[in-house]
Amino acid sequence: MLKKYKFDGYNTVTDLSDLDEEITFVEKGTPCGELLRRYWHPVLLSEELGELPKLIKVLGEELVLFRDKSGQIGLLHKHCAHRGASLEYGIIADCGLICSYHGWQYDIDGTLIKAGSEPCKSPVHKRVKQGAYQTHEQEGIIFAYLGPPEHTPEFPIYDTQLDKTVKKIPFTIETPCNWMQVYENTQDPIHVVHLHARSSGVQFGVASGVDQIIEYDDTPLGMINIQTRQVDGHIWTRTTESILPNGNQTGAIWEEAESEKFFQRTSMLRWMVPLDNTNTKTIGWRYFSKELDPREQGDASSVGVEKIDFIGQTKNERSYEDSQRQPGDYEAQVSQRPIAVHKMENLASSDTGVAKLRNLVRKHVRNLAEGGEIIHPQKNEFGHISTYTQDTVIKAKLNDVDQRKFSRNLIKNVKENSQLSPEMRRKKAEESSREFIKELS
Ligand code: FES
Ligand SMILES: [Fe+2]
Repeated sequence: MLKKYKFDGYNTVTDLSDLDEEITFVEKGTPCGELLRRYWHPVLLSEELGELPKLIKVLGEELVLFRDKSGQIGLLHKHCAHRGASLEYGIIADCGLICSYHGWQYDIDGTLIKAGSEPCKSPVHKRVKQGAYQTHEQEGIIFAYLGPPEHTPEFPIYDTQLDKTVKKIPFTIETPCNWMQVYENTQDPIHVVHLHARSSGVQFGVASGVDQIIEYDDTPLGMINIQTRQVDGHIWTRTTESILPNGNQTGAIWEEAESEKFFQRTSMLRWMVPLDNTNTKTIGWRYFSKELDPREQGDASSVGVEKIDFIGQTKNERSYEDSQRQPGDYEAQVSQRPIAVHKMENLASSDTGVAKLRNLVRKHVRNLAEGGEIIHPQKNEFGHISTYTQDTVIKAKLNDVDQRKFSRNLIKNVKENSQLSPEMRRKKAEESSREFIKELS
């Protein structure tokens, strides 16, 4: 008997107008835009800032970034306060930037140093100030703070940044879609098994394609997902981290889980920075070390402006046909539409992390919109903010129930010891993991 089909496309409603503005719109004055403006964001790599000013876009604002001849970095509103010419055509001065149209010179904080041909005593010098934002340069990346100056947080340094054993290479990747779909991808661990292993062939380590037990947990910085797998004779527990509002750390790209390791840290620290509502730039450091990549599958020379050393992250790396045959994160995220329409989705149990991350961001957006304070994480006695990303691999064969118990025990340990030094945290994670396996046997 022939199968009876029922085609119902005509009745399937498509409503692209009902957007989740609360957590996707980023302009100044929007609830999410105001939340994002309370944090430091990377905006450009140092290597991209040459002898000319650079026009950039961040959180929907067009800005001009430059390094003056004294080496100071300025970030000014694009349009000159005089009569609106773009400062991207400005002339770099010893101190600040001179607008090309009538020669008004602005310091890096927007102070009008000299209004072109106006007399020195002209009142415009006191009256006019160009909009300007604070910047901070850190290991090859220029960061900016676009929020109210009175709420400027201390520039955060995370524990993994201080690891002397890793080499950090800055990188950027632009993705033409809303920031939330780039960010929530990191709390969607089930896509790793499908997109990066079954759909496209193995794009990362073979072990990443093995079915996993997934759990989620809050941290003082945001949230983590915890993925536990039995890979041959080893148990592998990976923690992937969201550092609110838009930071992420992810474990080794090509983890094969073939040898024991405890509390091995991240292969990247990156931020998904909205350029505007429909364009996102991921900027961060890719971390390289023998420990993170024992088989040397990574390639530091392929990391930089608009490039990274793993597949499926950028537009121009492959032909359209190749990207159809082996789609990666770029194809998945961009094809969710310029702004994914949350109301039209059908979230299921495997989207728990995505839902949780959206809710977390929403909670923080509402808190600020309702007049609440933002509590920024404080650095500890070692001068850094502790994070929770780690990979632990231990020799053991466990059933699903015990795998879950193992990972819970490990994460409890990782959280409880978060204020210890990284070396001590590793030691404690190893001790507690070994103890746990011993007790089971
Ligand atoms: S528009 Fe910039 S100096 Fe006149
Ligand atoms: Fe991915």
